[in-house]
Amino acid sequence: MLQSMKIEGGHRLEGTIEISGAKNLALPAIASSLLTDQQVILHNVPKLTDVASMLGLLGYLGCDVSRSGDTVTLCTKDVINVDAPYDYVRKMRASILCLSPLVARCGRAEISLPGGCAIGLRSVDLHIRTLILMGANVSIEDGLIKAYAPNGLIGCDIDFPKVTVTGTENALMAGVFAKGVTRLINVAKEPEVQEFAKLLNLMGAKISGIGTSVLEIEGVEQLHGTEFSIIPDRIEAGTYAIASAITHGSIFLKNCVYDHLQSFFTALQQTGTTIQNRKDGVLITNDLDTIYPYCIYTNPYPAFPTDLQAQYMVLMSVCHGNATITENLFENRFMHAQELTRMGARIYIDGKNARITGVPSLKGAPVMATDLRASVALVLAGLAAEGTTIVNRLYHIDRGYENIDDKLRSCGAVLERVGQ
Ligand code: EPZ
Repeated sequence: MLQSMKIEGGHRLEGTIEISGAKNLALPAIASSLLTDQQVILHNVPKLTDVASMLGLLGYLGCDVSRSGDTVTLCTKDVINVDAPYDYVRKMRASILCLSPLVARCGRAEISLPGGCAIGLRSVDLHIRTLILMGANVSIEDGLIKAYAPNGLIGCDIDFPKVTVTGTENALMAGVFAKGVTRLINVAKEPEVQEFAKLLNLMGAKISGIGTSVLEIEGVEQLHGTEFSIIPDRIEAGTYAIASAITHGSIFLKNCVYDHLQSFFTALQQTGTTIQNRKDGVLITNDLDTIYPYCIYTNPYPAFPTDLQAQYMVLMSVCHGNATITENLFENRFMHAQELTRMGARIYIDGKNARITGVPSLKGAPVMATDLRASVALVLAGLAAEGTTIVNRLYHIDRGYENIDDKLRSCGAVLERVGQ
């Protein structure tokens, strides 16, 4: 039987939660170590199954991987494989982040096409387009992306028709050794992407324009090793901010960087939640007896992050009034809604809009997790609901939330894992 989480709702959460390193920076940072034969040392790397999967893939490709606490040391003296088999990719679509570094370093790569996932088609056409524009020969055969650039890549202007986080990260890695200058236009500006560009520069790349919509990469001969610390995970922090708000509690998010969540905190303040930016974290308190409705729509950074949409929907499901949530990034990221209605939420899905009518309280029930952020949203619902909630298929959660049981219990949550 798969693991489940049994949650006894109705407890006000209070205390301190230390925010771990950002999953969505750790993953590209690990992949970037393929770009050098020297040692790359990463600190504050979270213990997550997605990180373990990426480290396993790097080991398969020829990287020496070692871990001590939250420090990971990587060194790929020689690449021994240039393919990422489906078995790795199906577990974690971020394996696509090995595509460009393998082409840049070895002149070729064969990466299994990542399937879609629960939240949508998740195409990688823009990753492939970048390599083609830079002179690689790319074909899709037998479910594999086969990319060849035996004479290296050529710098050029690449205008992204859509903002793509890992697409930007793959394009940066394609540009570091390209001949001439590569200009990326309409890039993702998420803090993780900005930090990733800084990591590549620490390794000897020449990237300018970080934080703007246009990144310019001047090709260099090689990159060297470095040491780097992963920034705190803003999505983990936002998730626990909602845990505080929905239980009318008070949680100090240690290490949370307020500026990485401005749009989210602005919305949360409108719900009646108090947000205090301290020097080493952010204090989230809601001592009202109500949650005010506030409509949001998701968009690329710095707008409201899609990875906090499901969690915010839980908060709106117990608001005093009506609220609409618009999901602009993924075509199927409302899977949590039907599970929440099983707990008494009143949510009507109309295309990319979720129209929510707040109810006084959710009722505990057995529910099914479908993807990483939906699963943690159901845990939040269980924390606030009357009675007991069982969240099934818990493996989704361990992909992105380090020690979630202990972190929540330390603030007074009553929960336990059941099943093997
Ligand atoms: C990253 O995924 C994150 N994952 C996702 O977090 C996050 O939800 C997403 O960015 C948006 O912020 C990692 O960083 C490992 P995109 P990514 O390319 O890069 C379309 C989580 O919960 N698109 O920015 O795969 C795509 O379908 C995960 O931690 C194309 O059409 O997302 C989507 O509609 C979930 N063609 C939109 O762009 C492409 O080639 C944004 O996707 C690439 C993307």
